[in-house]
Amino acid sequence: MKHFAFIAPPGDGRIDGPPGYLALVRPALAPLARLIGRLWPPHLLSHIEGVHSRMTGREIEGWGVRCPLSARQMLRLPPQVVYDRIVWAGRLAQRQGAGLLGLGPFASGVGDGGVTIAQRLNMPVSTGNSLAVASAVAALEHAVELAGRGVTVAKGQAGGRPTRGTATAAVVGASGSIGLGCAEMLAPLVQELMLVGRREIDLSRARALVEAAGAVGKVRISTRIDDIQEADLVLSAGRATQPRILPDHLKRNAIVCDVVPPGDVSPTVRRERPDVFLTAGGVVTVPGQVDIGLGSGIPAGQAYAYMAEVMVLALEGRYESYSLGQRVHRERVREIAQLALKHGFRLAP
Ligand SMILES: NC(=O)c1ccc[n+]([C@@H]2O[C@H](COP(=O)([O-])OP(=O)(O)OC[C@H]3O[C@@H](n4cnc5c(N)ncnc54)[C@H](OP(=O)(O)O)[C@@H]3O)[C@@H](O)[C@H]2O)c1
Repeated sequence: MKHFAFIAPPGDGRIDGPPGYLALVRPALAPLARLIGRLWPPHLLSHIEGVHSRMTGREIEGWGVRCPLSARQMLRLPPQVVYDRIVWAGRLAQRQGAGLLGLGPFASGVGDGGVTIAQRLNMPVSTGNSLAVASAVAALEHAVELAGRGVTVAKGQAGGRPTRGTATAAVVGASGSIGLGCAEMLAPLVQELMLVGRREIDLSRARALVEAAGAVGKVRISTRIDDIQEADLVLSAGRATQPRILPDHLKRNAIVCDVVPPGDVSPTVRRERPDVFLTAGGVVTVPGQVDIGLGSGIPAGQAYAYMAEVMVLALEGRYESYSLGQRVHRERVREIAQLALKHGFRLAP
């Protein structure tokens, strides 16, 4: 039986956060930490056992592999340097018997989103972004139901007739892989969609793709975070340096899904805006008795969606480069969501 493997998160999720192996490092020591990261070889971090399909009873095991670069190094060093390190980490996993490698948010953000890595490893790799998008959108839809705020998202078919959503939604970081993927999935479900980001040119490109994905209402773009005040639903999928979504940015009774670890929504929102319904996206519960560990702060029994994607593929026996490149494809999002449900993966509470 082949195993799965994934690249462990390089830190707390922030671009300028400390690397995972030096979580308590003082800012003054950050350059030293980065030097250590460049010299320290990739290594196995955790052996994951007990992932167990509720449908077939099949059990699989895998490995978390650390590629000791910080998040900033992964995104800023020349891609060839980062590829070398990820390929090195992948070879380590291959020697353990892994037949599939999950890249995750930072390794998949490098260069061509896994294409070169898959070629150089001669092994299937997957960014994990299809299940990340599926779980983020599902978390937002679930929050809409739980919150009961009177706004709706479309439900496909109700009594044979498609319903129309009444909500205005905003996606922050809408030109990125996850943000654009989520915006395309939300487009047919809401009345109006706002794409928020830092560069107008990227947002215009994103708008064309979102409109082509079947938007039923108006699709607007904005480079001002304050504009999310018009949205009933907010899905945040950028990259955090500091939390950007503050109490004053949100509409009364807004529903917010934050996919950005450790959070793009300021902790002050929880304190000052009891009317706001806040949920996290991109985390799922894994069927079986599983502890991902890795010192990542993920509770036992749960995993990031990108990790879960390779687990689902391994349970299906589909050792293939399922999500590759920076674009996320809607048909893959729908398929992996169904496969995940079939094997017993669920949204994390
Ligand atoms: N849970 C999971 O399994 C999972 C999987 C994948 C990703 N994620 C998370 O989802 C988020 C998006 O990931 P992605 O792969 O889509 O990222 P991405 O494509 O690299 O970037 C997303 C967006 O973040 C903004 N951004 C980039 N650098 C930034 C900076 N220095 N400061 C502020 N904003 C910046 C950009 O938007 P603008 O330039 O338009 O502002 C970019 O389009 C990340 O937080 C990632 O950790 C989670």
